[in-house]
Amino acid sequence: MLDRLLLGQTEEGELARPPRLVEAMRYAALSGGKRLRPGLMLAAARLFGRDDDGVLVAAAALECIHCYSLVHDDLPAMDDDDLRRGRPTVHRAFDEATAILAGDALLTLAFDLVADPRVHAEACVRLAASRDLARAAGIGGMAGGQMLDLAAEHSTLGETEIRLLQSMKTGALIRYAARTGARLADASVEDIARLTRFGEVIGLAFQLADDLLDVEGDAAALGKAAGKDAAAGKATLVALKGTAWTRAELGRLVAEAETLLAAFGERAASLAALARFVAARDR
Ligand code: IPE
Ligand code: IPE
Ligand code: MG
Ligand code: MG
Ligand code: MG
Repeated sequence: MLDRLLLGQTEEGELARPPRLVEAMRYAALSGGKRLRPGLMLAAARLFGRDDDGVLVAAAALECIHCYSLVHDDLPAMDDDDLRRGRPTVHRAFDEATAILAGDALLTLAFDLVADPRVHAEACVRLAASRDLARAAGIGGMAGGQMLDLAAEHSTLGETEIRLLQSMKTGALIRYAARTGARLADASVEDIARLTRFGEVIGLAFQLADDLLDVEGDAAALGKAAGKDAAAGKATLVALKGTAWTRAELGRLVAEAETLLAAFGERAASLAALARFVAARDR
């Protein structure tokens, strides 16, 4: 789907798609990430009986936002990384200005995609999914969390503050994935709330695992540099509480996620498997 959505030919209302920008966007989005967020959205939608191209479009929109966040996260002014998904980062493969613009264009494309009528027959549902996405990605979500993350390099944060930072920079998009899968499948208000909570728990676990991998992981398997958080003075729970505590906390979060799914029984098997993957992954 992403491959089809990121083609060189213009859509109605567009004047031209500069080939270099398309190439950089494709490099950023079609470079072999784990696709956890779209996977969560699809699994959440399937749990409530929806499985079609429309959900895939919404999932692609979310992946566009995630990929943009990585392109900008890697920029020299941010984490200054040279390697991502086993390849040079976008600003290394192209140049800094192109990387900034590819990020901008991926972010903007996401909102084009959520407005696609295939996402949901009712415009008010698409509108709700779009506003939720803005809030997950923006000032009070991912971008806000990235701001806190950078600010924390120069100060000492406590556990509560680190959890807030992580819920924003990483948790918000993962929460959105689970919540929106349920929403697009017309799940009940209670079930949307349950999947939202599931996403929150998995989101926290995901960043804990990322921080643990930064300490213990192997750059070759990760496809990105390891050992960067301590060097940059990042505020992480691994730094504050240690690796043993973090592993125990990961186990606790996965157990909580599985408890949230218990009401759905076997139907939620793939979501439960994704929850376990988040904690046990090696990349
Ligand atoms: C990395 O995300 C950035 C964080 C939010 C920790 P992923 O580990 O999901 O990256 P890809 O998409 O698989 O490369
Ligand atoms: C990034 O967190 C979160 C984003 C919003 C992209 P990190 O800076 O820890 O992600 P990696 O380790 O570079 O993938
Ligand atoms: Mg970062
Ligand atoms: Mg980074
Ligand atoms: Mg990291």
